[in-house]
Amino acid sequence: MPRSQIEFYYGNVMADAIGPKHGITARQLQALAKRTSPLIAKLNEERRAGNTPYRDLPYSKETPQRVKKVVAELKDKCENFVVLGIGGSALGIIALQTALKPYMHNIYEKKRTGPRFFVFDNVDPSQFASFLHWIGNKLGKTVFNVISRGGQTAETISQFMIIRRLLSRRFGARSLRKHVVVTTCFNHNPLHRIATNAALPCLEIPAGVGGRFSVLTPVGLFSAAMCGIDIDSLLAGARDMDKKVSRKNFYKNPAAINAAINYHFYNRGKKISVMMPYSYALKDLADWYRQLWAESLGKAKNLKGRLVHIGPTPVRALGVTDQHSQVQLYREGPNDKLFTFLQVNSFDKDPKIGAAPRCAPEMAFLAGNNLSTLLNNEKKATEYALLQDRRPCLTVLFDKVDEYTVGQFIYLYEVTTSFAGALFKINPYNQPAVELGKQATFALKGKQGDYKPGYTYQEWAKEICSRTKIDKNFRV
Ligand code: PA5
Repeated sequence: MPRSQIEFYYGNVMADAIGPKHGITARQLQALAKRTSPLIAKLNEERRAGNTPYRDLPYSKETPQRVKKVVAELKDKCENFVVLGIGGSALGIIALQTALKPYMHNIYEKKRTGPRFFVFDNVDPSQFASFLHWIGNKLGKTVFNVISRGGQTAETISQFMIIRRLLSRRFGARSLRKHVVVTTCFNHNPLHRIATNAALPCLEIPAGVGGRFSVLTPVGLFSAAMCGIDIDSLLAGARDMDKKVSRKNFYKNPAAINAAINYHFYNRGKKISVMMPYSYALKDLADWYRQLWAESLGKAKNLKGRLVHIGPTPVRALGVTDQHSQVQLYREGPNDKLFTFLQVNSFDKDPKIGAAPRCAPEMAFLAGNNLSTLLNNEKKATEYALLQDRRPCLTVLFDKVDEYTVGQFIYLYEVTTSFAGALFKINPYNQPAVELGKQATFALKGKQGDYKPGYTYQEWAKEICSRTKIDKNFRV
């Protein structure tokens, strides 16, 4: 049986749909094809040379095997599964769970196919304390997955140190290995050292795969498999998309064409890119995309080191919810956005709308419809309204939301990001601005030693404090 697919639709960014002032003309599309086609060969070559290791993740045999082995060891003893991680070590994980587990997963005890699932990607004290209070007497059947590629992110390590103390006090230091799985790079970073010293089960993040490109490593696969998601199908979907995004023909390559369209609109004043799923299950994939796009493409310097301060601003919205919140701006505000809808053709469950009460006959037209037809009609209605105002709209069409299509989507957007990086002539794989904030946090928390030669963390902390202190003259 043919497997479910996703397709990329770009008819409604064309001049035929929204006019030549805002839309892409046939000639402009040809120019984009000319500019992007050599990049297809370049990216394929970079991949062959091993410079983009994220491209090969769906083909690993060892990774899913190792992940499943750890899952088999822990699953029966685990009623609560808790991820401690942030950024690329959290967003893909959350996206997979929201997409592929039922909405009521955590509280629908009878239907749960895996442990309850939580992610802490923040150090908000009230939130974490509330969780610690709840988990108190359930700790014995809880597994924590501590995820950090670099192994020294202050937020994740702080959470881990709270949990470590809790588990050690309750069950003894040796108990850690039954309750903690570490996912990190095996390069003797602090988290890796802690895991090795305490003999904790460890899953490896391959070298050269950045956080936001790591969802198809154990970062995303372990929690997914723990909660009953079919990771083989997820990886198969990514492999399927790999064939499409490697195609030499620009017009047949959805990643190349997607990146080129985004690049075109950025250069014509549409610097905001709104992703709007019409599916609650896909809402956190839009959040994952937001990080992927922002951290990869928001760069001060181009590949030649020239200052460019480039980067489209990704925004996530949710249909239909944000029709009642954002669409007023989207239609009548500045025409500075490119919209990407995610549309699902077939939903796994689809409640029917009941009859209208006699006192409200004017609502009878809704009766008998499934919610999916209402939802998808609302997508059409919003798209139509935007087109009327000459706003460009893309759509990613999902046959349905399952592991296979989600795997395709992830891979499509990762490779689209690589193409966009190449078009903007920036390095999409680093994040120097995020690193500075991480180091500044270390300084403020009292890290010892030199931040750079001749300049200690202590000195830097003083400078940071003086630049950020609240000056009472400006307080109102
Ligand atoms: O994409 C990235 O590289 C970042 O968002 C990181 O994932 C994030 O900063 C967390 O880093 P780490 O996984 O090293 O704790």
